Amino acid sequence: MRKKPWVDALLEHPPSFVLKDCSPLAQLTRSTYSSVHLEIGSGKGDYWIQMAAKHPNELWIGIEKDVKVAAVAIKKAQEAILPNQLFVVSDAQVCLPQFANGDVDVIHLNFSDPWPKKRTHKRRLSASTFIDQYKRILSDQGLIIMKTDNKELFEYSMVQFSQASLILEEMSVDFRREENDDVISEYEARFMSLNQPIYRCIWRKKSHG
Ligand SMILES: C[S@@+](CC[C@H](N)C(=O)[O-])C[C@H]1O[C@@H](n2cnc3c(N)ncnc32)[C@H](O)[C@@H]1O
Repeated sequence: MRKKPWVDALLEHPPSFVLKDCSPLAQLTRSTYSSVHLEIGSGKGDYWIQMAAKHPNELWIGIEKDVKVAAVAIKKAQEAILPNQLFVVSDAQVCLPQFANGDVDVIHLNFSDPWPKKRTHKRRLSASTFIDQYKRILSDQGLIIMKTDNKELFEYSMVQFSQASLILEEMSVDFRREENDDVISEYEARFMSLNQPIYRCIWRKKSHG
């Protein structure tokens, strides 16, 4: 994506729902919202924006590291920003350690970059180093929900989540053939238009018992 002139201006003086880093999130007053949702790699923001609108009692935090893409999400959100939306322009690798233990109830990974070469697997958002952080910041009954079009990434991620002793709650290898009210992200819309199956899994940090 080519950098547009308005991007620098917007990010130099961002609106108040855009945080410089994740450190203030560690002091979140959880009592204000029924649950805290964190989407990592929000792209141009469709999922984060629409889910926050659908669930006004939940806090929705989006993180995106690509400044040009993040600027598009911020611009879109500005048109109808809601009090339950926060956005951070940062790499999750930098941002996640700033959360307090148990701060987040649901982590959403939508169409994360597949990083197909083996030597780049450590950059995948379902690599074990990321999962260790997710387990730390998730509440005990916290969830990780992942959607992807990429079978190889899905299989890899299922193994990683399982090896991290998370509990499998749900799995679908053709999620959009089922009835559901989940919001469709930008990448998801693209893959659905190509008739590609959408893979989805939900993993819980600890069992109910
Ligand atoms: C393939 S896009 C998907 C965007 C959106 N979630 C969707 O479903 O349409 C993946 C996005 O994740 C972002 N991303 C990848 N690794 C990240 C990281 N470590 N921290 C923050 N964002 C990341 C990329 O910059 C990219 O915008």
